[in-house]
Amino acid sequence: MIRSFFSYLSKAAWARNIAMRSSIVWKMASRFIAGVTLADGIKVIQQLNSNGINATLDHLGEDTDSPEKAQQATSDILQAIEAIEQAGVRGNVSIKLTQIGLEIGNELCFENLEQILEKAQGYNSFVRIDMEDSTATQRTLDILRMARLHGYENVGIVIQAYLYRSEEDLRKLLDECFKIRLCKGAYTESPKVAYPKMQDINSSYDRCAAILINSALSKNCPRLSTDGRIPPVAGLATHDSKRIEYAKLYAEKVGLPKDAMEFQMLNGIRKDLQEQLAREGYCVRVYVPYGTEWYPYVMRRVAERPADLLFLLPFIKLG
Ligand code: FDA
Repeated sequence: MIRSFFSYLSKAAWARNIAMRSSIVWKMASRFIAGVTLADGIKVIQQLNSNGINATLDHLGEDTDSPEKAQQATSDILQAIEAIEQAGVRGNVSIKLTQIGLEIGNELCFENLEQILEKAQGYNSFVRIDMEDSTATQRTLDILRMARLHGYENVGIVIQAYLYRSEEDLRKLLDECFKIRLCKGAYTESPKVAYPKMQDINSSYDRCAAILINSALSKNCPRLSTDGRIPPVAGLATHDSKRIEYAKLYAEKVGLPKDAMEFQMLNGIRKDLQEQLAREGYCVRVYVPYGTEWYPYVMRRVAERPADLLFLLPFIKLG
């Protein structure tokens, strides 16, 4: 119920207009995002790298509604890839297809994606396509496969454990040798397409984690690249200690080496756990969003944990 309310707010233009002008909301947002500039993003990656943690940089934005804005977003992402190369940091990029034109047309979106993949390929780097709400799932997978047909190997995808279809998608994508990030799923979905209960989402997450780990093992355990850019097959994106513990134990049981899997978390969430896993010798990658289009991203984070809003109370009193 609370989650649905925040999900509604994340798409409401009126709420966005109020929030984007509020210094209190910005205080909350800045916990999750690196800042509004590319330089802010690179600085956060440098700090993470100095703690033995890799990153994936996200130029915030989604649901772009004109070809010009989609082209602008594409140029911004190309700059992000360039900046990672110039700064020599251990990171790659994550992108959203609706940011580069998916809602305008598959052709435009693919043209923009090709520019991004081409640029990343030139630097031996990798591009992760985030997964958005379920209305975009099939179109996202179609474009991913089109990229492979055009010869791009440097692209991976996200699977959301909450969707009923995910286990089958995962098996097919692994057969096609895609690298996968497994997450629970961040959008409000109908029970017609997604498990409504967290208990079922968690069970689905563990089942998918085991499938991913087995697949990495059967492919001779491809490792994280030494420059931290090309991830292993299995990316486990969660802050849930129980899911992480399950994956660690399962990988240990079947004999998947620590550098043939990667734990992924979001900037600003469970820093303690990120650093603990890195100290234990696991590969850790943190998702670092930056840019002015932070509103929907931050509202999804609040929807996941509304209790975090309590931290604003002292500011409200003072303000
Ligand atoms: P859960 O929500 O059960 O949280 C477990 C614990 O984590 C909580 O008890 C709390 O300690 C901590 N926690 C979680 N969220 C928090 C928050 N907002 N503030 C403070 N603490 C919090 N989704 C998607 O649909 N498409 C995508 O492409 C991606 N990409 C992605 C990349 C990466 C690297 C991560 C880590 C996550 C995503 N997600 C995503 C988001 C994902 O689907 C999910 O919504 C969040 O990770 C929260 O779910 P958890 O697995 O952490 O579990």
